[in-house]
Amino acid sequence: MSGHRRPLPVLSHGRDQMTCLYRCGNACDHPVPNPTDNPYLGDLLSDGLTRRGLVRAGAAGALVLGFGAAAGATPAAAAAPAAPVASAGKAPAAGEAPVAGAASGRAAALGFKPIPPNELDTVIVPNGYDHAVVIRWGDPILPGAPAFDVHRQSAEAQLRQFGFNNDFLAVLPLGHDGRRALLVSNHEYTNEELMFPGFTTLEAMTVEQVRVAMAAHGMSVVELERAGHTGQWRPARGRHAYNRRFTMLETPFRFTGPAAGSALLRTAADPAGTTPIGTLNNCSGGVTPWGTVLSGEENFNQYFVGGDQAPAELKPSLARYGITTTARYPGGSRRWERAQERFDLAKHPNEAHRFGWIVEVDPYEPGSRPRKHTAMGRFKHEGANVIVAKSGHVVAYMGDDERFDYLYKFVSKKRYRPGDRRHNLTLLESGTLYVAKVTGDSPAAEIDGTGKLPSDGAFDGTGRWIKLVSGDRSYVPGMSAVDALTYARLAGDAVGATKLDRPEDVQPSPVTGKIYAALTNNSNRAVGTNPGVDEANPRRANRHGQILEITEDGGDHTGESFTWSLPIVCGDPADSSTYFGGYDKSAVSPISCPDNVAFDRTGNLWIATDGNALGSNDGLFATAIEGPERGHLKQFLTVPPGAETCGPFITGDERSVFVAVQHPGEITGATVENPASTWPDGDFAKPAVVVTWRPDGGVIGT
Ligand code: FEO
Ligand code: CA
Ligand code: CA
Repeated sequence: MSGHRRPLPVLSHGRDQMTCLYRCGNACDHPVPNPTDNPYLGDLLSDGLTRRGLVRAGAAGALVLGFGAAAGATPAAAAAPAAPVASAGKAPAAGEAPVAGAASGRAAALGFKPIPPNELDTVIVPNGYDHAVVIRWGDPILPGAPAFDVHRQSAEAQLRQFGFNNDFLAVLPLGHDGRRALLVSNHEYTNEELMFPGFTTLEAMTVEQVRVAMAAHGMSVVELERAGHTGQWRPARGRHAYNRRFTMLETPFRFTGPAAGSALLRTAADPAGTTPIGTLNNCSGGVTPWGTVLSGEENFNQYFVGGDQAPAELKPSLARYGITTTARYPGGSRRWERAQERFDLAKHPNEAHRFGWIVEVDPYEPGSRPRKHTAMGRFKHEGANVIVAKSGHVVAYMGDDERFDYLYKFVSKKRYRPGDRRHNLTLLESGTLYVAKVTGDSPAAEIDGTGKLPSDGAFDGTGRWIKLVSGDRSYVPGMSAVDALTYARLAGDAVGATKLDRPEDVQPSPVTGKIYAALTNNSNRAVGTNPGVDEANPRRANRHGQILEITEDGGDHTGESFTWSLPIVCGDPADSSTYFGGYDKSAVSPISCPDNVAFDRTGNLWIATDGNALGSNDGLFATAIEGPERGHLKQFLTVPPGAETCGPFITGDERSVFVAVQHPGEITGATVENPASTWPDGDFAKPAVVVTWRPDGGVIGT
C-alpha cells in the first residue's frame, strides 16, 4: 500500500461527490426522470399467467469463446462467437462455433479461497493467482502515437492512444493458434480532475482540453498476444492492423433501422439523419455470435447544454431522458459545446436524439463503419447481450440504467445463419422491441420494504414482455414506430412497464438460457413520493441492489411470458435483508451494487460491482447459480479505492479473466498532483485493463 495521504472522502447522495459529478451529471440532484404513475409490481393484479416450472434452454447449442479453436481463412471467419446460442440441432459452421463441453449444465466447482473485503490501493486476487496490467489510459495503440505524457496532452495524441475509463471488455480470438486476440474496450467517460495537472473547473478548461476529453471517450480495439504459454496477455508488439479508436471527435457511425433518416435524427450537419459522429458514454456491452461487439450509450444527457431554449414540444422528452430543460448549463455539464456547437440544444436540439442507442462495431474489419441500431430503442443503455433462440432468431436483452426505469428485449426479424456472417451482420437492424412488466406472486402486504422474504419463501413471480414496436409498426397508442423507438422510455411509460432498481447489465446464461439482470441499487425506492417497494424491488432505500433471474416460458426467448426470482439480494450477509439463494450466509462474501455480470463456460455467474456501500473497494465475485451451491458467492478480486470493477471477461479457455479498472482514485478532492490512488504505476491513478491468471495453468475459479 502506498504511503500517500488520501483525501477524506466526502459523501454525497450516498457516494462520492466526484463520482456523482462525472459519472451521471449529478443525477441524484435532479428529479427522477420517470415521473409516470405506471403501476409498479405491488399494484399489479394477476395478469392471468400461471407460474410454470423452470425450463432449461437447449443447452447443447451453447457457445463460448474458443481461443485457437476457430478455423477460418479470413480474420472475419476466424471470429469465434462468445454469445450463447439456445438453438439446438444447428451445427455451427467451421470457424464460427467451438462448442464442445460448453454446456454440461453442471458448473465447475469454484474452489478458490475468497479474498476479504479491503481498501488497499492495488488489485487483490486469490492465493495462487497472478495479475498484470494489460493496457492503461494513454498507452499508444495507433501508428504515430506519442508516448503518454500527462503534461503534454493533445487531442491528436489521444486519438491514437488508449482512451480513459475503460468499462466493457471483450477479448475475441484472432487466428487459429490461440496466441492472438482482439481486445475491445469501451471508454465511458472522463474524470478531468484526474487527467489534467492544474485542473480547476470544467468551465476553466481550454478548448484543447475539451477536445482531449472528447477523444478519450468512445471505444478502442487493440491486438493482444499471449505471453508465453500462460494466461497472461499483452498488446501485440509491432502489430497495429486491427487497432482502432472510435471517438467523439471524428468517428462517423451509420444509423440503421426504422428511425434512420427520420426527422428526429436530422441535424444541420447531417440533413439526411443517417450519419452521427461519435459514440457517447459507452458503458457495458456484449459480443454477438458473429463476432461483433455491442456497446451501450448510457448517460449521454450530461453532455448537452441549452435545454432551456430547446423547442417546447421537445422538452418533455428531453426531460424524460434526464436533460435539464430549465437552465442553460445543467450541473455537471462538460461544456463540450465550446469545442463543437452540436452539444448546444438551443441550436441543434436533435443532436441529443443521436445518442442513447446500441452500437455495433466489427473489430475484425478495421475499415468497417460502426452502426447504431434504432430498432433496439433509445434509452440510457447499459449494454446488450445476445442469445440465439431455438427458432434461430437473435434476442438481445437490455437494461436502462436509471432509477425506476425499465428492462427491454429485442427479437430479430431474421434468423441467425451459422457461417453466414454477411447475413448475420444485418440481424440487429430489424425486429421487435419489448419492455418488461414484472409481477410478484406474493401478497403485496408481505413485501414490507425490509427485505424479509414473503411467506412463500421467495421474491418471485411472473412477467410479460409488452410489444412496443415491430418493424415499422408501433403498438404504443399515440406513438409512431419512430417515436416509440426514439423515445422508448415514453413508450414504456405508456404501456405500464415495471419500474426497476436501475437495471444494469443483463446477460443470458450460456448453459441454462436463463437471463440475469443486475439491479444495482435505488436509494430512492419507497422514499418520499417515489414509487414504493414491490416483489422484484423489495427493499426501501435500496443501497445494495439485487440480481433478477428470468426464465422464459418454454425456454422460448422469442416469447412474451416468463417467470422470475431474485436469487441474490445483495449486502452484508449478516444483514437480515440479504439473501443468497438459500445458501448458508455465514459462508458467503459481502457484495454491494452489482453492475456487470458474466458467465464462465460451465455456467458460474460472475458479478462485478460499482459503488460498494459496505466500506470495501469494489470487486469481482463468482457463484454457482444452479444446484446446491447456488448462492455460494465468493469474492475473487478487488480493485483500488474509488474504482469500479468492469468487464469482466472470462476467456473461452478459462485460463484468463480480464477486468477493467475504471476511475481508480475517483474520490472528491483527488487530483493528478494529490491522487487518492497511485495505481497502477505509483505516480497518479490511471484507468487500466487487468488480466488475472493461474501460474499453474489451471482453470480460473476452480
Ligand atoms: Fe455506466 Fe450503468 O453504469
Ligand atoms: Ca413470492
Ligand atoms: Ca455499468
